[in-house]
Amino acid sequence: MAIRFIEDKKIFRLDAGNSTYVMQVRENGYLQHLYYGASVRDDDLEYIITYLMCPFHPKAYDSWNNKAFSTDIQPMEYPVNGTGDFRTSAFSVNSVCGSNATELKYDSYRIIDGKPALEGLPATYLNEDDKAQTLEITMVDQFSGVKVKLYYTAFESLNVITRHCVVENCGNESVFINRVMSMCLDFNRVEDYDIIHLWGKWAKERQLERVRAPHGITNISSKRGSSSHYHNPFIALCDHEATEDSGNVYGVNLVYSGNFAAEVEVQAEESMRLIMGINPVDFSWKLEAGESFTSPEAVMVYSANGIGEMSRTFHKLYNRNLCRGYWKDNKRPILINNWEATYFDFDDDKLEKIAKGASELGIEMLVMDDGWFTNRLGEFGGLGDWEVDTTKLKEGLSGLCKRINALGMKFGIWFEPEMVASNTKLYAEHPDWVLHVGDRTRNLDRNQMVLDLSRKEVQDYLFGRISDILDHANISYIKWDFNRNLTEAGSAILPRDRQLEVFHRYVLGLYALLERLHNAYPMLLLEGCSGGGGRFDPAMLYYSPQIWTSDNTDALDRCKIQYGSSLCYPASMTSAHVSASPCHQTHRASSFETRGNVAMAGSFGYELDLNLLCDEEKALVKKQVQQYHDFYNCIHYGDYYRLVSPFDNEYCAWNFVSENKDEAILIFVVMRDRIFPRYFVKLKGLDPAKKYRDVNSGKEYYGDTLMNCGLNLTKVYGDLGSVIVHLKEVK
Ligand code: GLA
Repeated sequence: MAIRFIEDKKIFRLDAGNSTYVMQVRENGYLQHLYYGASVRDDDLEYIITYLMCPFHPKAYDSWNNKAFSTDIQPMEYPVNGTGDFRTSAFSVNSVCGSNATELKYDSYRIIDGKPALEGLPATYLNEDDKAQTLEITMVDQFSGVKVKLYYTAFESLNVITRHCVVENCGNESVFINRVMSMCLDFNRVEDYDIIHLWGKWAKERQLERVRAPHGITNISSKRGSSSHYHNPFIALCDHEATEDSGNVYGVNLVYSGNFAAEVEVQAEESMRLIMGINPVDFSWKLEAGESFTSPEAVMVYSANGIGEMSRTFHKLYNRNLCRGYWKDNKRPILINNWEATYFDFDDDKLEKIAKGASELGIEMLVMDDGWFTNRLGEFGGLGDWEVDTTKLKEGLSGLCKRINALGMKFGIWFEPEMVASNTKLYAEHPDWVLHVGDRTRNLDRNQMVLDLSRKEVQDYLFGRISDILDHANISYIKWDFNRNLTEAGSAILPRDRQLEVFHRYVLGLYALLERLHNAYPMLLLEGCSGGGGRFDPAMLYYSPQIWTSDNTDALDRCKIQYGSSLCYPASMTSAHVSASPCHQTHRASSFETRGNVAMAGSFGYELDLNLLCDEEKALVKKQVQQYHDFYNCIHYGDYYRLVSPFDNEYCAWNFVSENKDEAILIFVVMRDRIFPRYFVKLKGLDPAKKYRDVNSGKEYYGDTLMNCGLNLTKVYGDLGSVIVHLKEVK
């Protein structure tokens, strides 16, 4: 059984994979956190807690005479604001008297088999053969009448616990929630912990940073209306000594695409707290009597064996329990996207030519990017009406689709549905459909405004326009872009005391629209995008099995971006294309081979006009296409091991191992070559007793040799030289 309640001690115990999570209802009704980490046999872990009478830590004035118990020192399960715990809190409600002081006491519990869905929000789910139980703990704030139900799902065979909460207003008056975190983890001891997180910016997403957790609060967050290029909704805490293969690691990823916050607070020597959820900045939610509010899901992964195992657990979970629909198990087509080949300057003949050249080399789908609709000759307008520009596509979309399909290729299309430009019919007819605040200036970014997706009529309009296009042409794929962040996030139809709900309502509206599309077009492959990877989060991955990782396709920069992304996102979800050299974003030149080798570690495609390649490069495309097919299962569903980090070295390497360990793929890239180089790379994850043949050289090695002695990859590569080593079991 994954979850147990030990009645006499009032202890809850969750076992997920090889991890144990323990909490206890204390004598005065507080819910105290006791333990999260590697599996332990004992349940009664109260002895872990030390009681010290310390000044300046308030004690609850009640019948319980443990005078040394203060919520300000003890590890708490779901801490609240204003009633004794001065650390950053998980929950706070502004009730009828206008105060934010909140107190949650234990009320009851339920253990549910399986995993309930979250209302209106994406979340991980169970497959038929998955076993999991869910614990629901109800906490009550007597004063405001608010109940908070805490949910924990423990996966039986993975070190994964997912969490969220539902707030119910059981009182008679409305209240305002101003803080509702999806999870909290209190650490009873403050040893040396490091924080690992992913920072970035446009064209430089998900850079890995590891720092010692300092005293005070470290805040990793977004208030841009999307998860953003700047910080990813992922954070990990690990032992200071933890490596890829050893040490305790706690990774948390929020299944949410809007404003989020992760905070780590280290208070003196006593405690370290991690909370994560909707960013409380610019957030308030009015809850009328009888209403409820659901927080997004937080996925917690524990690893006793280092950062690598944490990542592989996330990858497994996301491939199996987050990705949905037809494209979860079906092979994704290799695509060619015309964006960097033509930008806005294309017509049907040009696209057909690009497609024809590509199809001859084995590419399976043409994606027509931005610029196919009226008023769109550059970045200046057109977004919103979604009417085909027949000066470019003379026989309309269906005409072009037919031409592409006749080449034996699928056809995909770019959309940016959440936006509107001022030179459109849509904006002329519905100026109030954009996010705005009264008469304040409507700030533009990329010359566009953001539609108010919290409004049902806006969702209906977009569903109507998109389905009209999909119903009249044979479209297999949509690249769903989002090229700015939210400013003046106000809605014309909400009253004053609900305007701070807009950021969250926007995200809920987006999910409702995406869900509707998913149900109406189950075979449609959606690729998420936001100026590259500006909305790369597990919530978007629930709707789009792959996301455009970055607008930066430079091979060297991609090593870092993809390596950082791999912390919690699998290669199958990370789109990677071969583009022209020199790279359009960095102007750096690299060989065709290296661009292919780097892109191979993702959902593969091309982003250039293949007709312009020389014969030698065309032959390489054919080779890469073949590799894509040969490597597909190992790369998409195999185990991923980071070997050498591009953040700390001048070369980098990673390898994939198939589920039954009969195949491995090593990708090695020299970022900056050395004088008289020596490159040895030790592989990971192989079966030590199996013999593997290097498909290229024919040389054979045992798994233990490859993992301990390593492969000798020494040769002069030159800057940005690279190699893929394909190893197959000798049977
Ligand atoms: C964004 C995307 C690009 C491309 C352009 C089109 O920047 O990330 O890949 O689609 O928009 O305008």
